Amino acid sequence: MKPKALITQKIFPQVLAYLREHASVEGGRARRGLSRAQLIESIRDKDGLFCLLTDIIDRQVMEAAPRLRIIANCAVGFDNIDIGTARQRGILVTNTPGVLTEATADLTWALILATARKIPQADRFTRNKRFRGWQLDLFLGREISGKRLGIIGLGRIGRAVARRAQSFRMEVVYFDLNRLSAEEEASNRVSFLPLEELLATSDVVSVHASLNASSVHLLSAEKIALMKKEAILVNVARGPIVDEAALAQALARRDIWAAGLDVYEKEPEIHPQLLKLDNVVLLPHIGSATDETRLRMAMTAARNLVQGLRGERPDNLVTG
Ligand code: DGY
Repeated sequence: MKPKALITQKIFPQVLAYLREHASVEGGRARRGLSRAQLIESIRDKDGLFCLLTDIIDRQVMEAAPRLRIIANCAVGFDNIDIGTARQRGILVTNTPGVLTEATADLTWALILATARKIPQADRFTRNKRFRGWQLDLFLGREISGKRLGIIGLGRIGRAVARRAQSFRMEVVYFDLNRLSAEEEASNRVSFLPLEELLATSDVVSVHASLNASSVHLLSAEKIALMKKEAILVNVARGPIVDEAALAQALARRDIWAAGLDVYEKEPEIHPQLLKLDNVVLLPHIGSATDETRLRMAMTAARNLVQGLRGERPDNLVTG
């Protein structure tokens, strides 16, 4: 008999077909996904779970699933899963590292440039038929080339963002709890700075850290206050790393120049003040959203799930 797997939301048909070859599958077609009550009900008899980053997989969910052996998250981040409880219960957890690095770094740069050059604001202005001809001071942005980029969290995505910064002749500094060796710093063309110094001296600050207990509000009101008045803050990692209310205030007071956000503290809610400000560019968590990358992510998660269901060690086992 095939093992039983639950898929919480709609996935690509080819990925669903692959999973059906290896498991008796429930779900995977409904765009809206499962309510929490439905999730708890549906997981009771399942051996495996394919979930998205919007599914909160906590102790209560795992306790409802006595047979659960593997949780395959379709994301590189896994802050939606209670890893401690999974470990206690002997449930494997997997993620999808590597396959979304380039797409997310591309989006980071799109957001940096869109924010620095006010692209969405200028687009809205033009569509609204307000363009009356060239003016010397129309939509003045900030220059990026030759400036200092501060990267917070120099993992795969942070490094890919740093590589792209070379084309803009930027000086790249980084902060990470794990400092690179001197050789790695040289080959990535980055230099380490303590967080406070990075914030106080960077023209663009880009957040790529993972979300965990120690990174919640890593960018607190006090830390945001260290940033330059002309600086831009970009976050494509996880919302709770930045104190969103403090950021909204800093933007409203023009304590920093602008922000570009792809993620929010209480997704999909967005701090109401941010929605009113004209010096912030807001995206709906689309860092990895390309056809190719999202298919790779789903297929990677599916393979991890099948490996776990077979009793094999999945390729992308979360060990941290
Ligand atoms: C992830 O994978 O963690 C991203 O936030 C979605 O691409």
